[in-house]
Amino acid sequence: MIETLEWTHSGVRFIDQTKLPTEEIYVTCKTHEQVADVIRNMVVRGAPAIGVAAAMGIALGVKNSQAATTGELKPEFDGICDVIGKTRPTAVNLFWAIARMREKFESLRVRPVAQVKQGLIDEARRMHAEDIAANQAMGRHGAALMPASGGVLTHCNAGALATCGYGTALGVIRAAVEQGKKIHVFADETRPFLQGSRLTAWELMKDGIPTTVISDNMAGAMMKQGKIGAIVVGADRIAANGDVANKIGTYTVAVLAREHAIPFYVAAPFSTIDLETPDGGGIPIEQRSPLEVTHIAGKQMVPDGVQVENPAFDVTPAKYVTAIVTERGIARAPYEESLHRLAEAAAVSV
Ligand code: MRU
Repeated sequence: MIETLEWTHSGVRFIDQTKLPTEEIYVTCKTHEQVADVIRNMVVRGAPAIGVAAAMGIALGVKNSQAATTGELKPEFDGICDVIGKTRPTAVNLFWAIARMREKFESLRVRPVAQVKQGLIDEARRMHAEDIAANQAMGRHGAALMPASGGVLTHCNAGALATCGYGTALGVIRAAVEQGKKIHVFADETRPFLQGSRLTAWELMKDGIPTTVISDNMAGAMMKQGKIGAIVVGADRIAANGDVANKIGTYTVAVLAREHAIPFYVAAPFSTIDLETPDGGGIPIEQRSPLEVTHIAGKQMVPDGVQVENPAFDVTPAKYVTAIVTERGIARAPYEESLHRLAEAAAVSV
């Protein structure tokens, strides 16, 4: 399995996703500020991976602290959480992970510093293991939704690289393939950052899963030609009504899917579901540097001075979503009810 991120004795180690698919290199962060930088710069990306990276970054910051008492550690801990919390705004897994590390800190507040440090490291590592288990459970639930054979389209990368392993949308595809389904993946290249062509194609090729990369504007034609039997994507945040924030371009795919009567599935762990946000209108959308749009591999592609937009995500209204696959089971419309029911179900533990 690809090690997207890993706790090591010398720091938090990441595969550098900005260098894939041509170079497979790893970076080790030794401070929480470095972890914040790799989240912001997308060395690590994808909502679940961002969440666990945040938890490991917090554990690393606490490990590096010179505080003599837990009381002295508390303001430092709050500062570390603030730094990590200001990296990327859309993936709710980041804030879920920070909240979970805060809860852990509170539960250890009366303990000596050494125990607090170890407890936070253990918690971050547990979140890593839970993420893989959740993806495998999602795969078990979602595989039945995949066609017995034929094309499945995905957008962005919701694979092993976007998680601690196995993937959400790609986990569903992997599980279907493991069951013997003959799936051919169509990977949208996913402009502007090219997570589909660089990352999804890379990890599926490693697994020997047949894959065709298409540019984003080809998706409609592929659907019209009958090449796509289902669509499965990940999510960065799912509101209580089932509206889904995911990589920019997902909305376009969902609308096209409706036009062609193709099922549109979203696979995401429960940590991506934000029941505090009633609908997609309340989801903050990250705006990224215009350079991601104006330049490809360092080469300028637009005239100087032209205006550029670069929202990293869009919101797909729940009405386009056929089902949401989570580790706790499958939710269908009306999502207000089905997501709340799943919220009461037991979490996947390791
Ligand atoms: O900007 P990115 O690469 O972090 O965006 C990633 C996505 O949009 C993924 O589809 C989403 O995080 C789900 S990953 C399992």
